[in-house]
Amino acid sequence: MSDVMAEETLDLAPLHEIIDEFKGQRGVLIQVLQRAQEAYGYLPPEVLQGIAKGLSVPLSQVYGVVTFYAQFYLTRRGKHVIRTCDGTACHVRGAAKVIDAVEKELGITPGETTPDYEFTFEVVYCLGSCGLSPVAVVDEQVVGRLVPEKMVQIIRNLRQK
Ligand code: FES
Repeated sequence: MSDVMAEETLDLAPLHEIIDEFKGQRGVLIQVLQRAQEAYGYLPPEVLQGIAKGLSVPLSQVYGVVTFYAQFYLTRRGKHVIRTCDGTACHVRGAAKVIDAVEKELGITPGETTPDYEFTFEVVYCLGSCGLSPVAVVDEQVVGRLVPEKMVQIIRNLRQK
């Protein structure tokens, strides 16, 4: 996540730069939202309001797009994102135990982020790598043939980074 994201005050300068780049163009809302999310790690209300104003689009339309597409996040995410598969192939090969291990190691349940914003944990249903089940995607990298111990070790290694 970029360090333009401060705890209390949000630096809106990066957003203004993005908006300036796209101002006056039509049909750029999704692109602007993507760029803003790259800059901030998620889309807080101030950013959405800034986009609505900057592009002269109703705020309701901005929220409509953000809530329609799964790629957009309204809450701050962890520095590391762990997505563990519990689709059929992975489930049969022990995904539940891997998920349990993540929950215990991080102290959160699927859909949550640790209070220190180090980890976000999600459960998904098929990552398209069933041959490697059970599978997780850790920071965009596919990790296959998981066992609980391996998953815990991955988390501990990430913590040290
Ligand atoms: S079911 Fe897990 S990758 Fe397909």
